[in-house]
Amino acid sequence: MAGIEFRNVSKSFGTYNVIQHLDVTIQDGSFTVLVGPSGCGKTTLLRMIAGIGPQSDGQILIDGKDMTDVAPGQRDVAMVFQNYAIYPTMSVYGNIEFGLKNNKVPKEERKKRIREVAEKVGLTDYLDRSPSTLSGGQRQRVALARAMSKNPKVFLMDEPLSNLDAKLRSAMRVELIELHRKLKTTFVYVTHDQVEAMSMADTIILMDHGEIQQIGSPEEIYRNPANLFVAQFIGSPAMNIVKREDCTIGFRPEAVCLTKEHTNAAFSVPGTISTREMLGRETNYSIRDGQGNTYMVTSPMDDWRPQQQVYLNVERASLYVFGKNGNRLPQMEGAVV
Ligand SMILES: Nc1ncnc2c1ncn2[C@@H]1O[C@H](COP(=O)(O)OP(=O)(O)O)[C@@H](O)[C@H]1O
Ligand SMILES: [Mg+2]
Repeated sequence: MAGIEFRNVSKSFGTYNVIQHLDVTIQDGSFTVLVGPSGCGKTTLLRMIAGIGPQSDGQILIDGKDMTDVAPGQRDVAMVFQNYAIYPTMSVYGNIEFGLKNNKVPKEERKKRIREVAEKVGLTDYLDRSPSTLSGGQRQRVALARAMSKNPKVFLMDEPLSNLDAKLRSAMRVELIELHRKLKTTFVYVTHDQVEAMSMADTIILMDHGEIQQIGSPEEIYRNPANLFVAQFIGSPAMNIVKREDCTIGFRPEAVCLTKEHTNAAFSVPGTISTREMLGRETNYSIRDGQGNTYMVTSPMDDWRPQQQVYLNVERASLYVFGKNGNRLPQMEGAVV
């Protein structure tokens, strides 16, 4: 187990500065998810930890030790990528064994470790199989097992589930949570998908343009977004936004109460249901107001149909207010609408 610390870290490619003066600590034993839009610098951060794309400036410490002069193979980290390289001509056993052989681990020790990791990821019955006979999820488990067999202090994962279909992805999310609980090793998991971040992380680091926007538990980030970017990035459907002259008001789709009549809620505006998506447990409505704004509303009830006139009502406690620079402001006084 090991924590990771970035101290005043910058990274540039030529004249392009991807990351500037970054200070952040990833807690020992945490399941930390680095999330942000494509191109914001997530992979760059991960590669710096692994040592395969070293920082331009500053220091990275693993387990309190400066890694600047430590080669990737000596860092005690294991990385799992989106396009995991599985060797098609080797058995599952051979694939897991490959890295251990390279590291000159003796045969008996290799055997023992492979049995252990295969057990942990549920591949015991598949060790003799050729990877071509495995499902996408099983192949991903081979990649995980291979990383685990090195007994790393830190697991680095870069969008490892992106190539799997939706159902398998959600099953693998649960498996990764369980794996983390068993191993108790630091996991640093990179994704652009806020659902993956919310479901697996104990700590989310949300980035945009190489800068950290917020660090916190999924609950904190969802309930207490520090700025407009965070508020809109986390949550699906996204938070509704209403622009005012000097501020922006936001509210979550599930915070809206739909009624036939105007109410005395802090926010109560008329609109017309434009679409309805019945998802079983809940229904999503998109609603247009007279000013050309579209709102998303999530309701446990399936009471409304397209073209109906409704009022959207939101209580004051469920309204978020953001200043001109996008930073969150305290609750506003007085009338909202
Ligand atoms: N080897 C490289 N040379 C030049 N630019 C790069 C290189 N690697 C990444 N970048 C740029 O750095 C930025 C961050 O990339 P990356 O870390 O891959 O983003 P993410 O993983 O969040 O999608 C992007 O604008 C990307 O184009
Ligand atoms: Mg990436």
